[in-house]
Amino acid sequence: MFDYPIFEMPFIGHRLLFAFDAILHVFISHGAAVGGSIILVLSQWLAIKNNDAKLDALSYKILFTFFILATAVGALTGIGIWIHINIINPAAIGALLRVFFWKWLIEWIVFNVEMILLLWLFLIWKKHSLGTPGKKKVYKLLVSYAVASWFTMAIITAILGFMMTPGNWLVSYFPAKPDYLASLLNPSWFPSLGFRTFWSIAWAGSMAMVLSYFFTRDDLELRKKAMRLYGAVLLGCIPFIIAFGAWYYAQFPQAAKELFWMGMVTRRFAGNPEYATYVTVILSALVLLGAITFYTKPKQAPLFLGIIMLIGSMGLIGGFERVREFVRKPYIIYDYMYANGVRVADVPYLNKTGYLKHAAFVPPEFREVTDENRLVAGKYLYQMQCRYCHTVNGINSVKARTKGMSEEAIYHRIGSLNSPATPFMPPFTGTDDERKALAAYLASLAEQTPANVYKQKLDEVSK
Ligand code: HEC
Repeated sequence: MFDYPIFEMPFIGHRLLFAFDAILHVFISHGAAVGGSIILVLSQWLAIKNNDAKLDALSYKILFTFFILATAVGALTGIGIWIHINIINPAAIGALLRVFFWKWLIEWIVFNVEMILLLWLFLIWKKHSLGTPGKKKVYKLLVSYAVASWFTMAIITAILGFMMTPGNWLVSYFPAKPDYLASLLNPSWFPSLGFRTFWSIAWAGSMAMVLSYFFTRDDLELRKKAMRLYGAVLLGCIPFIIAFGAWYYAQFPQAAKELFWMGMVTRRFAGNPEYATYVTVILSALVLLGAITFYTKPKQAPLFLGIIMLIGSMGLIGGFERVREFVRKPYIIYDYMYANGVRVADVPYLNKTGYLKHAAFVPPEFREVTDENRLVAGKYLYQMQCRYCHTVNGINSVKARTKGMSEEAIYHRIGSLNSPATPFMPPFTGTDDERKALAAYLASLAEQTPANVYKQKLDEVSK
């Protein structure tokens, strides 16, 4: 059942490792590709309509920057996501691939088409100047590129939506008679797609404004035109972001709504949910301050307001992704699979027969807990059920979380991981012997000071 090798990420842990890559990817894919292409379609349309060579040249410079970002950082972090999810949670990615196989394959093909269109666009843009018939071809290519990038986001959003709200797919009978359509049309897909689409455009608008600032240093009239255009796009998106965001939130399962505030402020400040409001208001104010000043005073607005606007946008986007991941806990696929890869339906069976017994990558001598192998068996249990969110000594360290607790107290705590105090943790899965082994291992961590570990190593060498 758990037939994947164990990968442990020391110190920073899986969650942070993944978050770095995934959020960077979102900045680029949503900004430079999806939102960026839509913004460029708009400014190209205006440039062609008004025969405006300067706007055309500015659009090319923005395209050039987006092109570098999308093909270098975007594509690389995208591959990074595949590598990370496969080593972090292969059970979950396996489940998602079974449900979304054809859709994902189509997404991958369209992504390749998207990259080819972008390259092609980039290569022929300068060959066809405004007013020539070739320019129309370039414009059509740009529109196709925008459609392709939006399409890839639509599919990935369906998968993300499915992880939080699998909807009717859950009641269909998998694998014999699954309702594949229900997995795609899951309740949060459409609202979350609308939400992402509009903030991608707004985010690309803020990037385009800051880029325009640099590209129009010696032409303030052009700067004014660009700031008015991209600023209007950004501000115009706001009502849609709010409306789709509220609709999206309404689809969250009740338990996820209850985790919303903690997701925003982290558990340490869970007693002060108002901090979440403060942070959101401050970040939004930064965005608005930058956008409105650039819009109303395009020629005078200083660069630092643009930088502040980018920081505010990035804070809001990163915060949203964090909350979305957090509120889905303890699940990775809601009501179907826990964050640690254990399927909900298998828990009673594993509790009865034993968890380690089914762990193909655990050496056979540790699949049954005995007095001799207790600590090592406990370590395997930690690695297979807890390391998704904890590290031993680093961030969210399990050693710190059990500090000062006796082995007995740890044993009791393991029995109530999914209690109302910590509803984001999956329950421990396994027999009573396994639970004791995990408690023994966690209690033994307190002894593991660097000096002790060193001494142990010395003893081993001298043996
Ligand atoms: C889905 C992620 C996740 C998994 C899996 C997980 N934990 Fe946790 N655990 C957390 C988070 C988040 C906290 C709270 C950290 C904080 O207080 O900031 C936590 C806190 C704890 C605490 C302290 C509880 C308290 O009351 O303060 C203990 C003990 C603990 N975890 C043990 C475990 C053990 C043992 C496992 C494996 C069987 C495990 N956790 C699996 C996310 C997880």
